[in-house]
Amino acid sequence: MTTAQQAQQQVSEDVHSYAEPTKAVARHLDLDIAVNFDSKTISGTASYNIDNLAKGNEIIFDTRGLQIEKVYLGDNREETTFRLGETDKVLGQPLYVTIKPDTKRVTIQYKTSPDAAALQWLNPQQTAGKKYPFLFTQSQAILARTWIPIQDSPGIRITYNAKVQVPKELMAVMSAENPMQKNATGVYNFEMKQQIPSYLMALSVGDMVFREVGPQTGIYAEPATIEAAAYEFAEMDKMLVAAEKIYGKYRWDRYDLLVLPPSFPFGGMENPRLTFVTPTVLAKDRSLTSLIAHELAHSWSGNLVTNATWNDFWLNEGFTVYFERRIMEELYGKPYADMLAVLGYQDLTNTIEELGADSEDTRLKLDLEGRDPDEGLTDIAYEKGNLFLRHIEMAVGRERFDEFVNKYFNTFAFQSTDTDKFLDFLRKELIKGDEELAEKINIEGWVFSPGLPENHVKPTSERFAQVEETYKAWKNGKPAAQLNTKDWSSHEWLHFIRMLPEQMSQQQMQDLDKAFNFTNSGNSEVLAAWFIHAINNNYRTADKALETFLTNVGRRKFLVPIYKALAATPEGKKKALAIYAKARPNYHAVSTVTLDEMLK
Ligand code: BES
Ligand code: ZN
Repeated sequence: MTTAQQAQQQVSEDVHSYAEPTKAVARHLDLDIAVNFDSKTISGTASYNIDNLAKGNEIIFDTRGLQIEKVYLGDNREETTFRLGETDKVLGQPLYVTIKPDTKRVTIQYKTSPDAAALQWLNPQQTAGKKYPFLFTQSQAILARTWIPIQDSPGIRITYNAKVQVPKELMAVMSAENPMQKNATGVYNFEMKQQIPSYLMALSVGDMVFREVGPQTGIYAEPATIEAAAYEFAEMDKMLVAAEKIYGKYRWDRYDLLVLPPSFPFGGMENPRLTFVTPTVLAKDRSLTSLIAHELAHSWSGNLVTNATWNDFWLNEGFTVYFERRIMEELYGKPYADMLAVLGYQDLTNTIEELGADSEDTRLKLDLEGRDPDEGLTDIAYEKGNLFLRHIEMAVGRERFDEFVNKYFNTFAFQSTDTDKFLDFLRKELIKGDEELAEKINIEGWVFSPGLPENHVKPTSERFAQVEETYKAWKNGKPAAQLNTKDWSSHEWLHFIRMLPEQMSQQQMQDLDKAFNFTNSGNSEVLAAWFIHAINNNYRTADKALETFLTNVGRRKFLVPIYKALAATPEGKKKALAIYAKARPNYHAVSTVTLDEMLK
């Protein structure tokens, strides 16, 4: 086989990228950019070391909204011709660069657009410190191409170096080896020695400081937030130790967190060496740290072994949820992890109900051709994926399953893999021709069929059984203030709130709120769940807190159900639109794309 044929064999077809990596592929990126807060643009050069496998005369990159100024070949930078293809709203434009059979290096000089979807430019008012502007990127799933011309497919991996010029009073960090300190020049250098897919390219610029947590771990945050963050995440080093105990050595040297301003559209993003995280997990009681376990777990499932296309997203998220709960079990015991499992199962059944039990989007292996991957990526990948892996674990026992998963991570380390390759590996390494086991595992039912197989095992939780007792007592008329809620964690509270009836009287709402002060909860999960009841029952006492929450927090997972509940009545919709008009400038494009569609 020629090298080109070999490469072709390894690459899974990605319908969300214009790149043709079997013909010409990027291996390493040298990024040299300047960040300009006045014009809200990033400009500079992306230089690639490439492999012209087919020895043809073209290499294709993905771009969206980028201004391509010049393209050069070779170390001496000889100008070459290029052409941008037609624009697709979701995929952007292919950039065709003319190369020679022996071209090794391509340099693209470019500039981003002020509305690049991956970039959120915050003014000082939108930060904790209120003094300096802030920038962060969000590249997953296919937004890297809005800030770097790149072969934007998770099946393609590169190493990178970067030189980033920022305003002198600010600091820059990336998904790479980081500087840890502000310097006087405003120029920062980065190195990512391990090969990563494009969706893990990440940059943030702002007034930030670094605080060490353990020998291998630390936190970047605004000075105003660092204290709270250091308390909340004090156990992250222990998490790393627990994770290594289960799936072997952490392969990325350091593991740090960057705590972002509240408009960050996700809970967390597993940028390698530097997880980006929402400040809405700063609950002051370390109750929401499973999110850190989740992003840390991605250092194996996702960053080390990567879904080759977005149709295989469950390989990233299903494994990660499974691993996240194993880490939490290791640290806090089975009863704790069981609570997370039950809450996750509730999310799953809700999602299946919303999508419809026979919806194709409830299969693990997705078909997102012609769609924005961001739309098709739901809780199914996370929770059905997790349930499938638990199901296999129960079928073969934990010891055997752990051995298998360890081997899977080692075999595919620093590679991308797809559903078929995983299933082949499962058959070869675990099922090994055992027909009874194959039938039990039921690949067809879990991976390629919608909904949940009939005989799936529903997670249960002892601690929640007590919550259910308490709830029944309340439902039967016991005043809230007399309920036994001693030592409840936020998970128990969340379970309790989720169980509350859809229709409640003002008196019931008041009774609960007086006893438990939900409206003023400092826990974002509790607050978001409570607001749904407040909206459904027209409980006006929560109005102000609701509006404050919606104007500050940009996390899509919270915003979508709240706006949806509001939009369910004509009066609520009016309120939703009024709040949205004010709050929208605070939200990231990832959130506004979804909300614009919902509220239009
Ligand atoms: N990688 C995801 C976030 C993501 C997924 C971004 C798809 C863009 C497209 C991240 O690891 C994640 O799953 N975050 C969750 C938190 C987690 C605890 C379930 C989130 O942001 O809510
Ligand atoms: Zn995840």
